[in-house]
Amino acid sequence: MVPTYETLLVERRQQIAHVTLNRPNALNALNTELRRDLKDFFTSLQAERDIRLVILTGSGRAFCAGADIKEWREPGSITDEREARQQVNFWEAMNRCEQPIIAAINGYALGGGCELAMCCDIRIASDQAHMGLTEVTLGIIPGGGGTQRLPRLVGRGKALELILTGRRIDAHEALRLGLVEEVVPHDQLMAMVDTLGQTIISRAPLAVKYAKEAIVRGLELPLEAGLQVEAELYTLLRTTEDRLEGARAFQEKRPPQFRGR
Ligand code: CAA
Repeated sequence: MVPTYETLLVERRQQIAHVTLNRPNALNALNTELRRDLKDFFTSLQAERDIRLVILTGSGRAFCAGADIKEWREPGSITDEREARQQVNFWEAMNRCEQPIIAAINGYALGGGCELAMCCDIRIASDQAHMGLTEVTLGIIPGGGGTQRLPRLVGRGKALELILTGRRIDAHEALRLGLVEEVVPHDQLMAMVDTLGQTIISRAPLAVKYAKEAIVRGLELPLEAGLQVEAELYTLLRTTEDRLEGARAFQEKRPPQFRGR
């Protein structure tokens, strides 16, 4: 069952969940409701075995313009601020997501919107996209993982330059820096992302799942420990029916029929 939300359109096509941030008049800024909906969606995905991949995009001319600045009020105590953040903290649910998430960056991805894109596994940008961690222009720092993820993607010096200045970059610069994997003409973005998603879900389900797990877990570990994670997951896959099916299909010169077992 795919849940329904006010600020998030969720459409299931085959085994792919197409998720669209849907506050176009506010450039899909992350207000409390949208944060709550994202948290609920990514939490519910943990029990959803039939959805194997998520495509995340924005409606209108933005992917996401970051935190909803119009919601900002007088600050509370540090405890109140912590509690408020935790209530709508969708980042953790996204981090735990086993399914690959592809960001289709259709326009502005700024502040929390850029962090949202970085929280995804693969980023494909429209040639009209603009990205940036603009938080210092508003008196804060990135709080959705930006200070940690940007340096891992583009290196320490470039991350410092971008975060300390709050400079916005276009899609081509994002590609050069490694912040996105590919830039495509705007009108081809969704078709291209869909094809990529279809390719991924055509592969052996457990192999896709464990490949993501090995990379995500391994990146946080020293090489030796990361290689151990890989070896464990590889050994598990050696025991699956799909491995045998893959080998049989290869020898019989036909497409494999993977079952996720
Ligand atoms: N919060 C609330 N509303 C926003 C918004 C935001 N982050 N970004 C845009 N909007 C609203 C605008 O107020 C405007 O609404 P009205 O028509 O009611 O005035 C509407 O969306 C369209 O925006 P603009 O008129 O500004 O459109 P533009 O094309 O002139 O500019 C823009 C586009 C450059 C993205 C500009 O809107 C902008 O700079 N937005 C703020 C981006 C930003 O700095 N985000 C970071 C927020 S901090 C953060 O994200 C921290 C975190 O999570 C940890």
